[in-house]
Amino acid sequence: KKQIQIAIDGPAAAGKSTIAKKTAELLGYTYVDTGAMYRAITYKALQENIDLQDEDKLTYLLKDTLIELKPSPDGQLVFLDNMAVTEEIRSKEVTASVSAVAAHATLREEMVKRQMEMGKNGSIVMDGRDIGTHVLKDAELKIFMSASVDERANRRYLENQNRGIETNLEELKQEIALRDKLDSERQASPLIQADDAIFIDTTYLTVDEVSEKIMQLAKERM
Ligand code: C5P
Repeated sequence: KKQIQIAIDGPAAAGKSTIAKKTAELLGYTYVDTGAMYRAITYKALQENIDLQDEDKLTYLLKDTLIELKPSPDGQLVFLDNMAVTEEIRSKEVTASVSAVAAHATLREEMVKRQMEMGKNGSIVMDGRDIGTHVLKDAELKIFMSASVDERANRRYLENQNRGIETNLEELKQEIALRDKLDSERQASPLIQADDAIFIDTTYLTVDEVSEKIMQLAKERM
């Protein structure tokens, strides 16, 4: 059996990480959440009070920063310079700032370099915004996942509720729509479907239905 690369891209809260994690588990592959890497450097920049528009400073900061993703039974743990920041990087503050940080071309170059290294041996499921278009250009399977903004906001709302986090549905909708806009309209590798990606609208599909579809597509390519 061939060890393939699977790239999953799409807008905020489309269910990419749930599906990517599940696919990786079923195949015994490594899962890489690239959004967590952008969130981690954003968290550090906020802690150090760095101007989020200062591309050089942020790029320099990243080059001096260790970001590690480690698998665990309840998902993926994120370490920033050996410190656990798994929960911290999901904060409102980080979520509101991450798209500004991720818009910088030279910072992205460094991120992409690290992600290519992680994916080079195959047996990998990576999710993000530019995986099929920049990071894993030769991936055997590329998926572009989306769902309506309303559905994505609803899912995130329920997810937060289950985690005991109080959120406002309207606010979530606005946050998701704004992040989509910033990620799609930026100059440096905007969120866009790769020519050879398969589009899946998950609005009316369950996690199991999406997962089955992707597993079938993956097996055809092994
Ligand atoms: O996937 P998640 O929503 O956690 O990603 C957070 C942010 O990181 C995105 O809104 C986007 O600005 C940025 N990102 C990116 N490229 C990736 C992954 C995430 O620009 N490959």
